[in-house]
Amino acid sequence: MNPLVISCSLNPDSRSAGLARQAHESFRQVSNDAKLIDLRQTPLPICDGGPSYQHGSVGPLAAAISDADPILLAVPVYNYYGNAAAKNLIELTGRAWTGKVVGFLCAAGGQGSYMSVMSLANSLMLDFRCLIVPRFVYATGEHFNEDGSVNDTIARRTDELCETAAGLAEAWEQAQAPAGRAEVN
Ligand SMILES: Cc1cc2nc3c(=O)[nH]c(=O)nc-3n(C[C@H](O)[C@H](O)[C@H](O)COP(=O)(O)O)c2cc1C
Repeated sequence: MNPLVISCSLNPDSRSAGLARQAHESFRQVSNDAKLIDLRQTPLPICDGGPSYQHGSVGPLAAAISDADPILLAVPVYNYYGNAAAKNLIELTGRAWTGKVVGFLCAAGGQGSYMSVMSLANSLMLDFRCLIVPRFVYATGEHFNEDGSVNDTIARRTDELCETAAGLAEAWEQAQAPAGRAEVN
């Protein structure tokens, strides 16, 4: 298993980055290979469907996504949607997502935007046949401590998300493996 968490907020004081750190810690309990990519440290061009694919950050990012499973996206909710940086990431890396188990951790300003990542989920499902984890972590300001870390409730929910995503990735990999030859006694 090669879990990856991608932190999609570009805000220096991001809350969803705290969710990403928590998920990375949780994955590290089960896999030393767990990785965390923070888009604040990986500047990307806006996808133009052409030259932007040649940008130096795009290839390595696509390779990291291609090598990983499961993948969790930590996203800020902007205008009842995942932020533009999350969508841009998917536009730039496209087919690297094929067949991945993908889960979401969301930071929002209020309770009412809880369905905001569904458009991203739909796109990943329908374009790239991703298996979306049917358990999101959704956190608002009250769920974060002053240092940006998450409270116990969100830490527990993040552990549950990571556990479910890891279990699904293992089962999904086995389900897609070619059937082994029947044993002959
Ligand atoms: C441009 C913008 C749009 C936002 N739109 C929403 C929204 O539709 N629903 C919501 O609950 N919060 C909204 N918020 C609040 C953010 O989701 C909240 O600040 C969250 O912490 C952002 O994640 P981040 O701190 O990781 O960047 C918006 C914030 C910004 C800056």
